[in-house]
Amino acid sequence: MFESLKRSDLPLIHKAVLRRATSTRPTIWIVEEKGVRAVVKDFSGNRALFRHTAGRFLVWREKRAYRKLQGLAGVPRLYRVLDGLALVLEEIPARSVEKLEREMVLPESFFEALEDLVRRIHERGLAHCDLKRAPNVLLGRDGLPYIVDWGASISKGECRLPPFNLIYRRFLRDDEDAVTKLKLRHLPHRVSSERLRRYRHRGLGERIVRGIRDRLRDWLQKVA
Ligand SMILES: Nc1ncnc2c1ncn2[C@@H]1O[C@H](COP(=O)(O)OP(=O)(O)OP(=O)(O)O)[C@@H](O)[C@H]1O
Ligand SMILES: [Mg+2]
Repeated sequence: MFESLKRSDLPLIHKAVLRRATSTRPTIWIVEEKGVRAVVKDFSGNRALFRHTAGRFLVWREKRAYRKLQGLAGVPRLYRVLDGLALVLEEIPARSVEKLEREMVLPESFFEALEDLVRRIHERGLAHCDLKRAPNVLLGRDGLPYIVDWGASISKGECRLPPFNLIYRRFLRDDEDAVTKLKLRHLPHRVSSERLRRYRHRGLGERIVRGIRDRLRDWLQKVA
């Protein structure tokens, strides 16, 4: 799919722009070929220094994550990468769950499916790490959850050695806590007391690991 698509064509042939580029964020285009639509996350419009450092790095990380997640229901398919600067992704007919609680209450079944999806992602050896950002979780037109935006994800293999293995465990927990955070907005009375305690509890050990993790993430973002 989209084999003949070129980066330079995007400003001419796109169907829509979901978001214009900002200093640190890519342009999100919608394109269409033979009736199939795709989302293109494209760093071409960012300034040269950012484009060739963080842009390339994030596209490379996200591509790796999509390869690991290939075939998993709830994760869009990666069609192609254009010149290391843009990802061409299956468009999920969906809306993000950001501020959705103002319009509707997501049902219990959505949260069960989301928990299951997070479990299957973790089984593939990957933590998303940015799931608390509501725009990264989509409610499909089919009522099912989808997860996008894998640039910040971390793989288990990268975190084999201590203390990174502990930090990785914290990343997994953070993904799970993101589901709790969303459920608290929709079905607070259906969040189990165990989940709530875990969500709220920050032991000393955890705070230290969290501190290291946050510094590591800041550092990764800087070198990126
Ligand atoms: N495959 C997809 N199908 C449908 N919509 C998508 C898809 N990928 C991204 N989007 C939409 O585009 C938005 C931005 O995508 P994404 O989160 O990957 O970009 P980002 O630059 O990392 O954004 P941010 O910094 O805001 O998190 C998503 O919140 C979602 O609404
Ligand atoms: Mg995002």
